[in-house]
Amino acid sequence: MLAKAITQSVQAKPKDQLRFITCGSVDDGKSTLIGRLLHDSKMIYNDQMTALERDSAKHGTTGRDIDFALLVDGLEAEREQGITIDVAYRFFATERRSFMVADTPGHEQYTRNMATGASNAQLAIILIDARKGVLVQTKRHSFICSLLGIRHLVLAVNKIDLVHYSKETFDRIVADYVAFASDLGFESIVPIPISARHGDNVVNRSGNTHWYDGPCLIGQLENIDIQSDRSGQAFRFPVQWVNRPDLDFRGYAGSVVSGSISVGDDIVVAASGRTTRVRRIVTQGGDLSCAEAGDAITITVEDEIDIGRGDLLARPTERPELADQFVAHLIWMDEDQLVVGRNYILRIGSQTTAASITAINHRIDVNTREHLAAGTLGLNEIGFCNISTARPAAFDPYEVNRRTGSFIVIDRYTNRTVAAGMIARPLRRATNVAWQPVAVGRKERADLKNQKPCIIWFTGLSGAGKSTIANIVDQKLFAMSRHAMLLDGDNLRHGLNADLGFSEVDRTENIRRAGEVAKLMADSGLIVICSFISPHGAERDMVRSLVSKEEFVEVFVDTPIEECARRDPKGLYSKARSGRIRNFTGIDASYEAPIRPEIHLRTMEQTPEQMAQTVIDVLMARAILGG
Ligand code: ADX
Repeated sequence: MLAKAITQSVQAKPKDQLRFITCGSVDDGKSTLIGRLLHDSKMIYNDQMTALERDSAKHGTTGRDIDFALLVDGLEAEREQGITIDVAYRFFATERRSFMVADTPGHEQYTRNMATGASNAQLAIILIDARKGVLVQTKRHSFICSLLGIRHLVLAVNKIDLVHYSKETFDRIVADYVAFASDLGFESIVPIPISARHGDNVVNRSGNTHWYDGPCLIGQLENIDIQSDRSGQAFRFPVQWVNRPDLDFRGYAGSVVSGSISVGDDIVVAASGRTTRVRRIVTQGGDLSCAEAGDAITITVEDEIDIGRGDLLARPTERPELADQFVAHLIWMDEDQLVVGRNYILRIGSQTTAASITAINHRIDVNTREHLAAGTLGLNEIGFCNISTARPAAFDPYEVNRRTGSFIVIDRYTNRTVAAGMIARPLRRATNVAWQPVAVGRKERADLKNQKPCIIWFTGLSGAGKSTIANIVDQKLFAMSRHAMLLDGDNLRHGLNADLGFSEVDRTENIRRAGEVAKLMADSGLIVICSFISPHGAERDMVRSLVSKEEFVEVFVDTPIEECARRDPKGLYSKARSGRIRNFTGIDASYEAPIRPEIHLRTMEQTPEQMAQTVIDVLMARAILGG
């Protein structure tokens, strides 16, 4: 009985899993290698095997042999269906271990795919064609693996049969590689001469390489000691959601990212610094006394303290960093390039916050590892950047914890993931600047003027009629004895913003400054009328976020571009069309129309006077104009 219980528990214990990535191109034999691994480890089902034999005869490039590449490439089609990040995961197992392989396309332009696969992997197989040796792409792959925190490598020198199983060739490649990779921080680099096509040293030891006495590939994958990179670490638990089925139960659900926790342990909410103690660890299969990395649990705590989605729980003695500025490596993954200063959404674990990239310290040439000066990052480029978040974020340096040290950046307007980042360290530049309390608040200042402060933000193409309507609104408010102030793009560009041009970065800064000024004026109780092209949703939203919801009124002055160009009040459209002005909005620079403006004015349908009245009516309805 006892014996049976023991066997059962042994069987029930999941096999330990190794997650790895293969780096190399199809030409290097990558697909063949994965196919060979799956086949020789007997993890291909019979029906697949029959199909493979048939396809090999039909399409294969290997004569009468089985073309293992077909096994893997057959799955390429699924990739072509527009999955944004192109990584295929395959699972197989031997007696000793189970494996998860991240397979990514090897082409140059796919840094982002490789990075995605590597971010989750504990080991990388760097594939080298024995005839070609160490190539630029070998170096690039190795650098990305190192950056993404992979510490163990297998250097698979493939096609060794095509160099007549030459020990000299193998030794030369290994020496070249080790010289290059010595400062990349790898803990182990195990070179293996293989032939994926013929199976030498993949799963079975080869009789053709008598001079080689190291492990075969699968042996290395089975035996490498990857100390669980999570269990020895500090306890980290990002709260995914608050589970509150009834008034008596309040639990915080999520997965333990690293470390372990027991009932009765002290914990701290990283952002607020509030501490409490774990009361219960609830799971679907009943309560646990202890949970560790990988467990999906719900924690209940002793005290009623404020914990919400996005909070990171830790032990008080092992707190994560908490900062609103940090430096990080950023891998840019979008066709639209990075705009320094733009307001993006940043997601670290379950935390979401507004953030901007405030500076690019340097860009890294992934081929040479040179540091280059850069004003922006384009698709697949890697930069080392300063990042500033709207709220302090809890994190660990990526080197310490890959899960709590990585983040993604999302474009507010397109909702696309535009970058992945790895945090290097916090920056503490502004810690000695505190808020000075002010005795008279914005409400008192506004009450004195018998109104509520607000920002009326006119956006639209040049020549759409923004300034004309804004001026009439200003006059009407003046006639009503209201305290308003007009901020106009053209005018600010003569003073405060005289140093700015019309690049995306400069426009972003233009709107940031205008928004900050508008906010200060609203703090003084004014109704602030702003008229800026402000072509991007991200910047308009940034200004919106500076004041409370009811204090921001976005007015879209909607005039078709042909009409703006016909009116051309400043003669700028004709100059832009003839190429004498660059980056002109609507001609060779984009304009993102507001998605849900508070007021949408169609200038072809109404007079400026009517439209100005619409704005006044909205202010009345919002009780901004007082009694
Ligand atoms: S914004 O795009 O940064 O919001 P802003 O509203 O301050 O622009 O200034 C726009 C005004 O600058 C236009 O009305 C026009 O008179 C002038 N201007 C000069 N060059 C350009 C350009 N390349 N694109 C748009 N406006 C320009």
